[in-house]
Amino acid sequence: MTAEPSTRVMTVTPEALAEAVGCLRAGGLVAFPTETVYGLGADATNAKAIARLYDAKGRPAFNPLIAHIQDAAAARGLGILDPLASRLAELFWPGPLTLVVPRQPDCRVAELATAGLATIALRVPAHTVARDLLAAFGRPIVAPSANRSGHVSPTTGQHVLADLRGRIDLVLDGGRSPVGLESTIVACIGEPALLRPGGLPRADIERVLGHSLADSPIEPADEAPLAPGQLPSHYAPRTPLRLNAQTVRAGEALLAFGEPSVSSSDRAVSVLNLSPGADMVEAAANLFSYLRTLDALGASGIAVMPIPQIGLGEAINDRLQRAAAPRPR
Ligand code: TXA
Ligand code: MG
Repeated sequence: MTAEPSTRVMTVTPEALAEAVGCLRAGGLVAFPTETVYGLGADATNAKAIARLYDAKGRPAFNPLIAHIQDAAAARGLGILDPLASRLAELFWPGPLTLVVPRQPDCRVAELATAGLATIALRVPAHTVARDLLAAFGRPIVAPSANRSGHVSPTTGQHVLADLRGRIDLVLDGGRSPVGLESTIVACIGEPALLRPGGLPRADIERVLGHSLADSPIEPADEAPLAPGQLPSHYAPRTPLRLNAQTVRAGEALLAFGEPSVSSSDRAVSVLNLSPGADMVEAAANLFSYLRTLDALGASGIAVMPIPQIGLGEAINDRLQRAAAPRPR
């Protein structure tokens, strides 16, 4: 188990930014101001850092995260912007608008950050500190609002500390977030849809579209677990999943956890262990990529060993249950 970090607070100086970059490079968690609310940042390409982030927030499920980038060009490296998404990006970035678009096939954001979805949420923040941090780090930063799960979004460094002291490495204190409301989220996958009202008024977007924006709310409350089917292209392996497996059946692959206690595991077509040492953060970091690897084998099924409901175990089991649920084709 990882030791709790002691949280440092720094006002924004070039030294503080350098410190934040070093921390992100090392897989740490840095809260920073954006114009909407404070975000809890992690290296978007580092699955382990992202697992720590979910752990720090105490999220009950792996809600997908927004990838923050410097500009539309960087956004295009991660997601596919259709002409309408490009137009919105051109008009409203940098600013309080998040676009949900299809993931690029070679998108380098960890699958854990997008919760295994085929889509990705992208935002170019306007706040100077956020922009300076992105420029200095040179990679996408995933950042949910920097609050504990179920709490309201923080708009000052003090709010962040009240929720996350001792759970994250660093808070860059840049004063109050001027917008004070999360970004507006618009899905640009076919017909555009408003997923979350926020800092950019709907009317501003509708003026560009020339018609009203369809509603497709993703969240009654910020941290409400996403119901299967609420999101486009919910990730599911093609190979059937068998959860809480006590034994491996002929033709199955095995997704193990901790000490391999499953009988006939030598029979498995292939074995991947989420965390031999039963570390939940490590297991979460490996979850989506291991599922994908085992799914590609063409095995008759994937037997999944029981995973305790401890820490991130709850979120891991939530995703596994969704992946195992029968779905319409
Ligand atoms: O203003 C903001 O957007 C702040 C600042 C820090 O940028 N961030 C923020 O993140 O509010 P968060 O994680 O608290 O809320 C992001 C919402 C979540 O409800 C998540 O489910 C949704 O965006 N989301 C992320 N990726 C998605 C996707 N691919 N499809 C649908 N919804 C997505
Ligand atoms: Mg939030």
